[in-house]
This record gives sequence, structure tokens and C-alpha cells, in this order.
Amino acid sequence: MKKWGILGALDAEIAKIKENMQIEKTEEVYGSVVYDGFINNTPVTLVCCGIGKVNAAALAGVIIREFKVDVIVNVGIAGAMGHGVQTLDIVVSECAEFHDTDDVMKKYYPFTQCFDADEALKELCLKAVKALDTKKNVWCGKIATGDRFVNDKETKQKIVEKCAPLCVEMEGAAIAQVAYMNKTPFLIIRTMSDSADDDADETYDNLLELAADQSASIILKMLELC
Ligand code: ADE
Repeated sequence: MKKWGILGALDAEIAKIKENMQIEKTEEVYGSVVYDGFINNTPVTLVCCGIGKVNAAALAGVIIREFKVDVIVNVGIAGAMGHGVQTLDIVVSECAEFHDTDDVMKKYYPFTQCFDADEALKELCLKAVKALDTKKNVWCGKIATGDRFVNDKETKQKIVEKCAPLCVEMEGAAIAQVAYMNKTPFLIIRTMSDSADDDADETYDNLLELAADQSASIILKMLELC
């Protein structure tokens, strides 16, 4: 049976998953607590990695190489960017791209800034969303990642022009790159907590928990269906 690695950046993003996990072992790594155990008989390693690309990459490497996960899923919240994408909509990654790097990255290993998500995990996720009947829109496409919280329309516009993503967050592409370097399938599941615009701070505060719990429910349903 495949072992799942699940990463969220904030406590709120992993809270509901942790509640539903039978935890066998905990270990502190790089200041984060790594939980090892089971959800519905599936072996799972769960960690709240902290925000940003470095934290996410470091813990993704740890759970792949030390905790031997076979697949890796990043769950949580994001700022909506794509035309028509609204708060509390769900975005499932087809690929993840850094919005804060330049083309020099493409000249050196791994020769890309955009990483393809696993098709089978995506299909399972869509099945889970359907089974949950959230009544929210579900979008599949590109997720953009960078080391900043986007809360003004000028920055949002620049990111849209650079990579035209459905949403923006701060960890996904970093986890995707580490997954790619380790030949590990990955998926990102995000519920929109805000629209990455001038109202983002307030909307984020109001919707954080609701949005985080919705993404967590989706992965719990995936683990029921797999
Ligand atoms: N995560 C949730 N909302 C975000 C935003 N507006 N920018 C970056 N990361 C986010």
C-alpha cells in the first residue's frame, strides 16, 4: 500500500486531517512536528511545514527521504487569480510554477520552473470533490507559488501576466520541485481564502478556517476512496 505524505503550511490547514489521523509517532524536524500514522488504514505522514518555499521544500525532502512517502499532497488555502475564480472555490493543480523566479532558472537543473502534477491523484481528487458535493466551483490548472502574500492588485496583475495561474500561494511549486527531483507523484489542493487583491487581508482572516477545512475534507475523502 502506498504511503501518503501530506503537507500544509499553517496549523489551520492540517488541523482537521490531524483530528482524523491515528498517530503512531511524532518527531520534531527543523522546528516542525512530523506526524506518522494512519488514516483509514492508509499509512500517512503529516506535517505543518510553515509558510514559504524554503520551509516547504525542506519538509518535503524530509518526508520523502526519511519518512519514505510514495506520494505527496499539499493542502490548504490560496488567493484566487484566474478569471471567474471566487473565494471558497477549489483549485486542483495540473501544474505548479514559481512566479518570483526568472528565466535563468531554466538553464540549470531541473531546467524548468513549472512542474506537472500527477494525473491519477488529480482524478481521485475530483472524485472526492464530487462525493463531498460542496456546491463550490472546482478548477483544474496552474498554481503559482512565491515568497510573498499577494494583497494588492498591481502585484496580482504582474503575476497574471507572468504565468496566468488560477491561484497564488507560497509553497506548492517548491513541494512540486522536490517531488520532481525525487520522482514522487504530487498534487496541490487549495480552497480560495481571498482574491489576492486589496481586500485580501480581511477576506483571508474571515475565511481562513472555512477554506482550510474544506481542503482538508477533500484529502480525507480521497483517503476514503483510494
Ligand atoms: N495564501 C492564501 N492567500 C494568499 C495570497 N493572497 N497570497 C499568497 N498566498 C496566499
